Amino acid sequence: MPLTNVRVGLVGACGRMGTLIIRRVLATEGMEIASAFDIVNIGKDIGDVVGAGALGVPVSDSADLAAVLKESRTDVLIDFTIAKATAVNAPAAASAGVNLIIGTTGLSAEQKTAITDAVIKNNVAAVISSNYSIGVGVFFKLIRDAAGYLGDEYDVEIVEAHHNQKKDAPSGTAMTAAEIISKAMGGKDIVCGREGVCPRGKEIGVHSIRGGDIVGDHTVMFIGNSERIEIRHQAHSREIFVGGAVMAAKWVVSQKKGVVYGMEDVLS
Ligand SMILES: NC(=O)c1ccc[n+]([C@@H]2O[C@H](COP(=O)([O-])OP(=O)(O)OC[C@H]3O[C@@H](n4cnc5c(N)ncnc54)[C@H](O)[C@@H]3O)[C@@H](O)[C@H]2O)c1
Repeated sequence: MPLTNVRVGLVGACGRMGTLIIRRVLATEGMEIASAFDIVNIGKDIGDVVGAGALGVPVSDSADLAAVLKESRTDVLIDFTIAKATAVNAPAAASAGVNLIIGTTGLSAEQKTAITDAVIKNNVAAVISSNYSIGVGVFFKLIRDAAGYLGDEYDVEIVEAHHNQKKDAPSGTAMTAAEIISKAMGGKDIVCGREGVCPRGKEIGVHSIRGGDIVGDHTVMFIGNSERIEIRHQAHSREIFVGGAVMAAKWVVSQKKGVVYGMEDVLS
């Protein structure tokens, strides 16, 4: 048993995910909230903002990230914001010697590479995952296995659906699923949406639906002549991501440094 609590910081602390993660950290033995960052509610007590009662931790401007992380002795920073914010805040946290849990989706390959470089250079540990749900970990394994069994004669289409406030498309989970299948099938192009004259080739098609309060649905279709296999994951509540992200935060602080892990490492 560790003698001291894991001290957790949140970027995007006042958002949908940030609020739920703070409440979960407060309910988790061996963890405490050390710092909170957002671009709204600056100076307010984050406990009051998330409805948990005053914690004595003010919401800080992420412009002051490195200084506040050091002053608050934050061990691990959890980031659920938007890609352009994570691209700035994650390297800044790494250079302050703070471990990272990144949940933000829509990061470009260049942004991911820059974050990975900062993790290695500053010798911290990080988990980056487009989906912290344990069920999605199993879903990824099932689609990898199916893609390995099925040959090139099966067309692959991925359909994802999310709430009408989601900013990026396709979802990070749909892109991860497409990348897993492409790799398992020996390399395939990934095409997001179709319009106009676009005869089907050997690509993996990815399609996005946005509406209402859908938490997150992902369906992978392997479509052959005369048959079709569909593998589907449906999130009923954001709590599935919250539990995984908090589990990853507790896990990452004692892992080998200079490494970017995935959720499969946490689960294994
Ligand atoms: N990996 C996963 O399992 C998973 C699960 C759910 C959501 N997400 C992703 O997490 C991200 C956040 O989702 P959400 O539903 O909580 O969004 P949200 O819009 O409710 O919250 C985002 C928060 O980030 C804040 N923010 C924006 N720019 C900032 C900056 N520069 N510095 C500090 N804070 C900033 C916003 O003010 C807001 O409070 C999205 O990218 C979403 O796709 C990932």
